[in-house]
Order: sequence, then C-alpha cells, then structure tokens
Amino acid sequence: MFEYNMQRLTPEEFEKFSKLVYDESGIFMKDSKITLLSNRLRKRLQALDINSFAEYFDYIQKLSDKSHELDLLLDVVSTNETYFFRSERHFAALMQKCVPDIVAKKKDRKLTVWSAGCSTGEEPYTIAICLSELKDLLFGWDVEILATDIAYSVLDFARQGKYSGRRIDKVPPNLLEKYFDKSESEEDVYTVKKQLKDMVKFGTLNLFKDQFPRNIDLIFCRNVMIYFDREHQRTLVKNFYNALSKTNGYFFIGHSETLHSVSEDFAYMKIMDSPVYVPKERLNEFSSN
Ligand SMILES: C[S@@+](CC[C@H](N)C(=O)[O-])C[C@H]1O[C@@H](n2cnc3c(N)ncnc32)[C@H](O)[C@@H]1O
Repeated sequence: MFEYNMQRLTPEEFEKFSKLVYDESGIFMKDSKITLLSNRLRKRLQALDINSFAEYFDYIQKLSDKSHELDLLLDVVSTNETYFFRSERHFAALMQKCVPDIVAKKKDRKLTVWSAGCSTGEEPYTIAICLSELKDLLFGWDVEILATDIAYSVLDFARQGKYSGRRIDKVPPNLLEKYFDKSESEEDVYTVKKQLKDMVKFGTLNLFKDQFPRNIDLIFCRNVMIYFDREHQRTLVKNFYNALSKTNGYFFIGHSETLHSVSEDFAYMKIMDSPVYVPKERLNEFSSN
C-alpha cells in the first residue's frame, strides 16, 4: 500500500511534468501550481499503481506509443470548472443581436456554432437552449453546435447530459422545466432532453494539435485562453480568426479575458452590455449603426 497522498513533486519533477503538459496542450503552469499539479497527477499514479512521480515520468518516456497516456495525463491536469448560463449577458447578446443579425444576412440558412473548450457541456447546452428559444426565427435553418475539448472524461460527462447543484443554479426555472427531465430517483438531478442532445456534436480537439473546423458563424472560447501563455494565445486567436466567417462571425471570450496585445484581427464590441469580438473587416458595419 503506497502513501500516494503524501507525495508532492520535487521542483525538478515539476519542471519536467509542467514542460510535458505545456508541449502537449499549451497549458502553462507557474511554479506556484506545484501542489495543484501534484494532486492531479496522483490520480494517474493510483490508476497505474505506480509508486512515485519519477517512475511515472519514466513510464511515459518508455511507452512506444505515448498518445493514450498523454491523453489521460491531460485529462487529469486540465481545469474544467463551468456551469449553465455562465456570464449570462453573453447569451442575451447571442439571442437578441448576434443570431438575428446572422439570420438577416446569411443566404444559405446554415448556422454553425463552435464551443471550443466546452468542458462538461454546460456551455454548448446553454447555447442549444438559446437557439431553441429562437426556433421561430431559425425555422428552416440547419443549426449545428460543435463542442470540443482536449479532455475525454469531460466529454463523456457532457454526452450523458446529467447535471445537478451549482452547475444548473443559473438555469431559469421555466427553461429547466422545458429542456430538462427531472430525475425520479435522485434529488436535484436533471438530464438535458434529447432535443438538446441532438443539437450538439461533442468531440475531442486539441487546440494546438488538431485541425480547426471552417466557416464558423459563432465561436465561444471562454475561460480557456487563461491557461495559455501569450505566444499560444496569439496562435490560437489567429486560428480562430481564420475559422470564423468574415462577413457575419462573432467571437466570445471569457469576461476576465482580453484580446489586448493578443490579436489585432478582431474589433471589440459591447453588445447588450457584454464584450463580444467581431473580425476587423466588420468594424465599419458597426460604427455606421
Ligand atoms: C475552465 S473550462 C471552460 C469551460 C467553458 N468554456 C466555460 O467557460 O464555462 C476550460 C476547458 O479548456 C480545456 N482545454 C485546455 N487546454 C485545451 C487545449 N489545448 N485544447 C482543447 N481544450 C483545452 C480544458 O480541458 C477545460 O475543459
């Protein structure tokens, strides 16, 4: 029986593991994260019945195909905090300005939304609720919500669509009743209805290793960039710019995040009292309104 709980990375081990995490995911960990990283890596030690961090590092190095173990390592290392209607003003902007604007402009009647770094699914399902509430406006439209994350376990959780507690605290009661099934056996447990599940396509996507989808109308990448250093943020935002429609695209980042000194490809807008970015090509369109 090993004393897993007692173990903490040495500064040298921290350097090795944090570099591995950075190289594989762009997630940058300051030295002050040593306890956090130790706690999270301990789960892999336990799962593999490995005795020390040093042994775990060697184990990874000796694997002929490291990809599976690296996926599992990133899965335990990533921070997945999220909840329904997080930064709710974003969703007011989405419903009252962005979607009506896209509907007025796009001829192909196809709306594609991407929740990049979707974690356990609360963000894409919130988007699905909002778009369902706009069903009259979107009648006859082909609506697709792509929801991606680097971590497998959060995507499994998301596909189940079963939520409770503070994850659903901010869902207005009428929407909770309309879009969720209340569990009969467990208290305060709600599962999103099939109609929402059918709107969202979940999949793994590493923002620094995998190809991006194209021609996206709305990109949500909120509370993800905070984990990356400036260089990775710049690369990421450039790739989002390339993925977004230049004629009607909108880009949402977290309320505590900024594109200042990260990108000049986007113009900052305040819509419904909420920060939203549009490709710089659209700036005239907004200033003339
Ligand atoms: C704090 S959650 C944000 C969830 C949601 N967007 C929100 O704002 O509530 C950050 C998510 O980013 C994901 N993530 C971190 N690095 C990533 C990468 N390189 N590629 C894809 N997803 C990543 C994490 O796995 C995590 O689920």
